[in-house]
Amino acid sequence: MCGIVGYIGQNDTKEILLTGLEKLEYRGYDSAGIATLGEDGVHVTKVKGRIAALRKEVDNSKDATIGIGHTRWATHGVPSVQNAHPHQSSTERFTIVHNGVIENYVDLKKEYLEDVDFVSETDTEVIVQLIEKLYEKHKNTKKAFGEAMSLLKGSYAIGLIDAEDQETLYVSKNKSPLLVGLGEGFNLIASDAMATLKETNEYLEIYDKEIVLVNRSFVEVQTLDGEVINREPFTAEIDASDTEKGTYPHFMLKEIDEQPIVMRNIIREYQNEKGELKLEKNIRKAMQKADRIYIIAAGTSYHAGLVGKEFLEKLSNIPVEVHVASEFSYNMPLLSEKPLFIFISQSGETADSRAVLVKVKELGHPALTLTNVPGSTLSREADYTLPLHAGPEIAVASTKAYTAQIAVLAVLAVDTARVKGIKLDFDPLQELAIVANAMEIITNQKEELEQLARDYFATTRNAFFIGRSTDYHVAQEAALKLKEISYIQAEGFAGGELKHGTIALIEDGTPVIALTTQENVNYSIRGNVQEVVARGANALIISSKGLEQDEDAFVLPAVHELLTPLVSVIPMQLLAYYAALHRDCDVDKPRNLAKSVTVE
Ligand code: F6R
Repeated sequence: MCGIVGYIGQNDTKEILLTGLEKLEYRGYDSAGIATLGEDGVHVTKVKGRIAALRKEVDNSKDATIGIGHTRWATHGVPSVQNAHPHQSSTERFTIVHNGVIENYVDLKKEYLEDVDFVSETDTEVIVQLIEKLYEKHKNTKKAFGEAMSLLKGSYAIGLIDAEDQETLYVSKNKSPLLVGLGEGFNLIASDAMATLKETNEYLEIYDKEIVLVNRSFVEVQTLDGEVINREPFTAEIDASDTEKGTYPHFMLKEIDEQPIVMRNIIREYQNEKGELKLEKNIRKAMQKADRIYIIAAGTSYHAGLVGKEFLEKLSNIPVEVHVASEFSYNMPLLSEKPLFIFISQSGETADSRAVLVKVKELGHPALTLTNVPGSTLSREADYTLPLHAGPEIAVASTKAYTAQIAVLAVLAVDTARVKGIKLDFDPLQELAIVANAMEIITNQKEELEQLARDYFATTRNAFFIGRSTDYHVAQEAALKLKEISYIQAEGFAGGELKHGTIALIEDGTPVIALTTQENVNYSIRGNVQEVVARGANALIISSKGLEQDEDAFVLPAVHELLTPLVSVIPMQLLAYYAALHRDCDVDKPRNLAKSVTVE
């Protein structure tokens, strides 16, 4: 949700900014811009559209030694050159990039900036104009920057340059992610370590409301009160090649294909030398103590949570509630005496989930985050973290993170059962190895799935996915995948619920994809298929080996019944992928979306 990057040093500043923005483009791609400062002053280049368009506009002079860049997912103001970042103050002395939402920007405008002519509709321009106004008072950029930061309410990650100072990048953050990258003779800032791995893998964390002065040879972190903070850097454990597509046409296809490897990574990371499950002692204690678990998540991660609830209840005997993060605070359930909150988030940055975590910590309850990004905000602020080990997920549509979340939840549920002395006839590591092989079999059936996507989704306006029990949760995820990348209106429905209203939408040729992987509902879901076929639907049945019938279009390899979501989702992901491809959609960067949603 907007990506920012900044650089100070002697290398090719513009190229470093553009390359960084290309890596951050998954965070937003409505418009983009860079500002550089050299001997001949500040140069700002902005475009509506993507980084490729920005690259064409930027001249290739190499004189700049400091610069900032931004790729935008619009919140305040339509995508346009005017609203694109960087923004400048009226005198053009100060130039800023910002990721986040300033909640009190209208009040700040009224109180401090009535005499200022604004050129954009953004909340960001208010920040840079405010800094200029406060500079008139303090005659000192650091003081003006610090006071401005203390007046902001909301979320922000900010990089600011002062045209009169080629030696300092002014940086601050609150709730939005931002890291400082450390190098020899240069330093940089980025929303995400992936953006600048070519330059460095040494990073310094910034905490909320700190002020950071980034010089080419040092970085100074301070509190808003000016107290200097010493913090050790960390090494980002990401391989730069993990962030490349390689020979794949799209990241989404690469990430779908990586799922067997991810399962094997999880098996390796969650077992000790004796082949037993390995989890932190403190997590075990927290799970043992909990009398109820509250899973909080959004989108695909929420769908993984629905599957996780089944594991935790069936295997470890703990009651579980699953909540959509953005709704949780309005109608908070009555909490049990010893609740444990589990946050599921690929990015670890989702603002809706983070808002709940802040509340949960205020109430004094323990929290565990399952995330693909250890060191992310949700990971840092929770008491415990379980990493997903899925490797960077770049495509906006989540695939391998979903299956990793489900696999780690299975490990957690079984581990908790064992700690509680519950006897289980289920070895998750062995079963996950079977799942990995099954996933491989499905990803080798791409031609078949591509043809099915042509047959069912080439021209349709809408589609329904139905399932019962666990299959219902996968149907919800399948519908989300299809709609977000192919723009086909899709709904995931409980098979039995369709006849209570929604069946009115079935017309001649409406695609209905039915999933059946659970023996106890195999006949009832097939009954639901008959109901829609009788009304003209074009039905496609996907079943598990052992439950299949002649009419089924695709049969999944058999895996443990609890773990079927891990394999049944793969054809759904591939159907969505090929549907989007055949409809000429931008698979990796669907319209209106961004990978990490850092606004509430
Ligand atoms: C859909 C998708 C989103 C995310 C959601 C939560 O493919 O990726 O629905 O699952 O925005 O994001 P995280 O998991 O990063 O909290």
